[in-house]
Amino acid sequence: MTTQLSHPKIILDTDPGGDDIFALLWLLGFVKQGLAELVAVTSADGNVAAKRTFSCASQILNLTGFSHIKVGRGVPVKGQGLEDAAHIHGSDGMGNLSHTLPAATHTFEEACYSDEIIIDELNADPEGITIIAIGPLTNLAAAETKSPGILKKAKEIVIMGGAFFCPGNVTPHAEFNIWFNPEAAQTVFDSRDDIIVMPLDVTRHLIFTRDMAQAVVSQANPESKLAQFLIALCEFMIGTALGYRETTGIPGFLVHDAATLGYLFYPETLMLRRAKVRVETKGEWTQGQTLMDSRLRPKTEANAWVALQVDEGKFFTSFVEDLKQLFKAVVA
Ligand code: BDR
Ligand code: CA
Repeated sequence: MTTQLSHPKIILDTDPGGDDIFALLWLLGFVKQGLAELVAVTSADGNVAAKRTFSCASQILNLTGFSHIKVGRGVPVKGQGLEDAAHIHGSDGMGNLSHTLPAATHTFEEACYSDEIIIDELNADPEGITIIAIGPLTNLAAAETKSPGILKKAKEIVIMGGAFFCPGNVTPHAEFNIWFNPEAAQTVFDSRDDIIVMPLDVTRHLIFTRDMAQAVVSQANPESKLAQFLIALCEFMIGTALGYRETTGIPGFLVHDAATLGYLFYPETLMLRRAKVRVETKGEWTQGQTLMDSRLRPKTEANAWVALQVDEGKFFTSFVEDLKQLFKAVVA
């Protein structure tokens, strides 16, 4: 684990997705407060198709006054035909609310591929950039395959993915981001020895509620598109989370992807374990499962730090307060 930068430069690799949007908004809140720099958003195929995740990222950046930030287009996943997560996030990845927001201004057809952006930015600033990856790891793996060793040039790589001592959410054993492209995940885990992992073991405790959403918008213009969007997206996500029994009946939804930012800015809210993480890439029933060796043995071959406990009270106190800062500042 490396020392934290006080003002991290971040590439956000994301497949929005309702919880991705909440993570992006939190990150933009840090940027607004002068606590972080967002270098690029590299969109990925995942929750919905690459073209949709791209325009979703663009719409959110436009809405919040960050349309100057570049957006990469997701590298296609080999052997397509995988089931996406539109049933959780809406067919547009935004709770079917994309028509309520200003249109995307970035153009998918003209955009650089996400792996190219990752390669170029890491070469331009070796050890200066933190990658936050909250979707399937296709873009990162493509960058590593094209330019072996490139991911070592990141200051740190923090991912949301995996399920170690709890059930999966897409199969009994696998978590969505890893299951969607297990080979890509294995490539990323092989790329360096300090991948930071936020698995379902912690994110299944991160239930964002209506009351939290109301607190976030409390000091914003209630008529603003952003405030109305946040409330409506929260409602949509609560509906699907309850339908899929993700929150033990609590009316809320899991903000899985925000855990990565919790780690970066409030590491005291998490307990991490050193581990050698492996990904099941050949299993008949266990495809995409993440495994670690918990035996009392020297962890000389470890490749990761895996979060296994979270203080959700402290996490949400910070999450809500930081989001308020963004909502106060954005009038649209
Ligand atoms: C992960 O899968 C996606 O559906 C979410 O956006 C999150 O990144 C949780 O398993
Ligand atoms: Ca995601």
